[in-house]
Amino acid sequence: MARKKIIAGNWKMNMTPSQAVELVNTLKDLVVNPDVDVVYCVPAIDIVPVVEAVKGSNVAVGAENFYIEDKGAYTGEISAPMLLDAGVKYVIIGHSERRDYFKEDDALLNKKVLKAFASGLTPILCCGESLELRERNAYKDWINLQIKADLEGVTADQVKTMVIAYEPIWAIGTGKTATADQAQEVCAMIRHTIAEMYDEATAEAVRIQYGGSMNAGNAAELLSKPDIDGGLIGGAALKPDFGKIVNYNK
Ligand code: G3H
Repeated sequence: MARKKIIAGNWKMNMTPSQAVELVNTLKDLVVNPDVDVVYCVPAIDIVPVVEAVKGSNVAVGAENFYIEDKGAYTGEISAPMLLDAGVKYVIIGHSERRDYFKEDDALLNKKVLKAFASGLTPILCCGESLELRERNAYKDWINLQIKADLEGVTADQVKTMVIAYEPIWAIGTGKTATADQAQEVCAMIRHTIAEMYDEATAEAVRIQYGGSMNAGNAAELLSKPDIDGGLIGGAALKPDFGKIVNYNK
């Protein structure tokens, strides 16, 4: 069965609550495409107003991060039960900005993936290499290690429902997109790794996104590739351009 495309915006640390509602309203009529699942992954403080603002639309809401405990003395953190109660469906795990700036390692990210599944959140698990790893041709091994470590203990049935985002760090926010062939190569490799770890049916079901300077001009070519099932969009998710990405096939 063909995989449905999934286009997710990662707003990062942008948009105050009132700006968030304004953006949702601006995008409302632009992000309708029956062939595509649309997700807004928003800052924690924007979750409640954004869930309210997307009500009655096709858009689901995601969080950009969460912590592995349900409650307690973890100042500044937000838990899965809090996200679920607020109406969140997806959560980004392992974005390179969390790995680099907040020192989240694969051991923690694996716990987050397991916790997301145990709680009923759908993980969008990010992986990707630095420019240095790409230049010395070590990117494939690196990404496979990330995938294997982050999915330890995750079942085939769970993997079938999740999203994996391939985001080369050198392409994030730089305007330097991976070529469609480069992105396809890695997304196909990730699917192959999932087939080896699980089975063909799981590999066929899991949705794999590309992220890194995807925009209205390059989305159609990237999304035409057989193993690229969507996009995780940063900068362009904050503009009407996001609607053009969602409607890449029109
Ligand atoms: O999560 C999204 C990625 O980091 C891509 O960001 O589209 O601004 O390059 P970008």
